[in-house]
Amino acid sequence: MTEDKTDCILRDFRRDKCEHCTKLCPHRIALHGLDGKSGRIGNTDLPADYRGITLANSPVRTDQAENYVLFDKYAQTFNRGDVKSLYLWSESPGTGKTTTAAAFISEWVARDYLGALKAGEQPRQFSAYFLDINELQTQYNLATMTDDNDAMKRIGTKIKRTQDAPFAVVDDVGTRSSTEAFTSYVHAIINHRTSNAMPTVFTSNLPIEEMSDVFTQRLYDRIRDQCGVIHFAGTSKRGRR
Ligand SMILES: Nc1ncnc2c1ncn2[C@@H]1O[C@H](COP(=O)(O)OP(=O)(O)OP(=O)(O)O)[C@@H](O)[C@H]1O
Ligand SMILES: [Mg+2]
Repeated sequence: MTEDKTDCILRDFRRDKCEHCTKLCPHRIALHGLDGKSGRIGNTDLPADYRGITLANSPVRTDQAENYVLFDKYAQTFNRGDVKSLYLWSESPGTGKTTTAAAFISEWVARDYLGALKAGEQPRQFSAYFLDINELQTQYNLATMTDDNDAMKRIGTKIKRTQDAPFAVVDDVGTRSSTEAFTSYVHAIINHRTSNAMPTVFTSNLPIEEMSDVFTQRLYDRIRDQCGVIHFAGTSKRGRR
């Protein structure tokens, strides 16, 4: 049961750190499902490896201490109407960009849920979405190669979810050379979000300037205008525990 007690992302928001909660806590079920894999966090499609990470418990916090001062302030804006977008990047892989983006998803979902309760409203089911561009591209290549209509529909759903989510992470943007068709989907997602000023956290291994080669000038200008650019210094920490 210890595990069940500590794996709810709401614990950082409660004075008692959910110490007396059980697996049957209604809030835990609302966020993680009874099986710990569904609920509102499940709806974000955040990969299993990146669940349960919050800004407070992020393993990246110490190494990226200066950035995390900003990120704590950033998360404070989540219940307001004017949330900025961020572009997290580093030359080196494994510096904690996706981990941090995952923490933002947890923070967003928790704050969205608690904010609704506080206002006496029913918390929405879909408040944030995590899109892994590399994974989407692999799925897309496979679906086109095998002419798999069902897989294409699932890809369409992911695209739609990313467009509509009040908050979204677009992970690994612009990293792999893609076909024109795939790029146009990514373009459509980002275009929809930026033209409606919807908060988005991008991660990338390229400086933001290089996005001008990936997207149209107009879209690049919008991304540039809307995003706070945050650099993750250092080398890969992958495998460090
Ligand atoms: N600063 C850090 N301290 C401890 N562990 C870290 C740190 N940065 C990353 N890690 C660990 O390394 C692994 C990879 O991190 P993550 O996926 O967030 O990196 P990334 O910057 O997104 O890499 P990539 O550029 O390859 O996408 C994770 O298991 C994460 O916990
Ligand atoms: Mg990553």
